[in-house]
Amino acid sequence: MSLGNIADYTLKRELGRGGMGKVYLARSSDGLDVALKTIIIPEGINARSRWEAVERFQREARAARSLTHDNICQVLDTGADGETFFIVMEYLDGQSLRERIEATGSLLVERSVQIMFDVCDALAYAHDQGIIHRDIKPDNIMILRGGRAKLMDFGLASIVYETGMTQTGTMMGTISYMSPEQARGEKLDARSDVFSLGVTFYEMLTGRQAFEGEAPGAVLHAISNKEVESVSGLPPTVSRTLNKCLRKQPPYRFQTVREIIAALRTTGIHPVSKGAQKTVPTGTMVMPGTAPSGSVVPPTPAPAAPPSPPPPRPTPPPPAASPSKQAGFNCSKCG
Ligand SMILES: Nc1ncnc2c1ncn2[C@@H]1O[C@H](COP(=O)(O)OP(=O)(O)OP(=O)(O)O)[C@@H](O)[C@H]1O
Ligand SMILES: [Mg+2]
Repeated sequence: MSLGNIADYTLKRELGRGGMGKVYLARSSDGLDVALKTIIIPEGINARSRWEAVERFQREARAARSLTHDNICQVLDTGADGETFFIVMEYLDGQSLRERIEATGSLLVERSVQIMFDVCDALAYAHDQGIIHRDIKPDNIMILRGGRAKLMDFGLASIVYETGMTQTGTMMGTISYMSPEQARGEKLDARSDVFSLGVTFYEMLTGRQAFEGEAPGAVLHAISNKEVESVSGLPPTVSRTLNKCLRKQPPYRFQTVREIIAALRTTGIHPVSKGAQKTVPTGTMVMPGTAPSGSVVPPTPAPAAPPSPPPPRPTPPPPAASPSKQAGFNCSKCG
């Protein structure tokens, strides 16, 4: 039974929902199964903000479309049907890393490292093009039936966080995977993704979130000020890699995702899938394309010489707990 149509796509069933809208399994006019994600711009915002949100959406969607990699969920099409904006992606048959962790608890070290290899390959490719993800988390990593991991939702976080393009009463992204600089609302570079990837790695290895708190303010405080609980029983190479992803100050982290890949190789664990080469995934529709928009953010600068240790920073008190508004964005998942 069909749930109706959006533009030329026939909606077959709901696959899930997130901060921006719903994700449907849909059928294209060519008869291909695709995932269609609706992006709903709330009514309440003024005309100028709305126009900016639409502009931003289109820019980010074009950039995401330009990314073609074995470990990235391919964006196939974008458009609008009345007030509903949408993104069409390849349909991924599998389970999100969030669902996997919820079902099984922590993953084996070997499996966690293999997933890291895949996600790092995807990120290294995107960072090379000046595109950072900004929302690395288990919900945005899909584990396919054959074991390969694919990263979803490139660039979309900025639409939610920076334009307030969220719906009251829906899930609005989570702050638990933010880097300290992201939590402070600063300008981000690829090293922010390195931190969020570390938080995700921690959760794979332990089954627990690295930074928790009763209210968003407490989570943000933990991200900026608390060291994660150490994980016992890890091979030292894995432990070192994890800890270096999670350094609070960007200059002390891995400076590039390729450095993480090099560190993962020292574990002696091998990737399952080979994701470094660019391919067009099977079943990809050839859509009339818009030229890629180019860089969304400047590429990460080349790693600098290790800096001298920064002076100790005073620990700011946690912001007043307000489940709905923190650091310029909305969150209803975490309060
Ligand atoms: N390309 C896809 N193929 C198959 N299922 C998908 C696809 N994209 C999303 N989903 C499903 O839809 C769910 C919701 O995705 P969505 O991206 O909207 O939410 P989220 O990642 O939890 O939050 P956010 O809005 O912060 O991205 C996912 O958890 C996944 O189960
Ligand atoms: Mg998502």
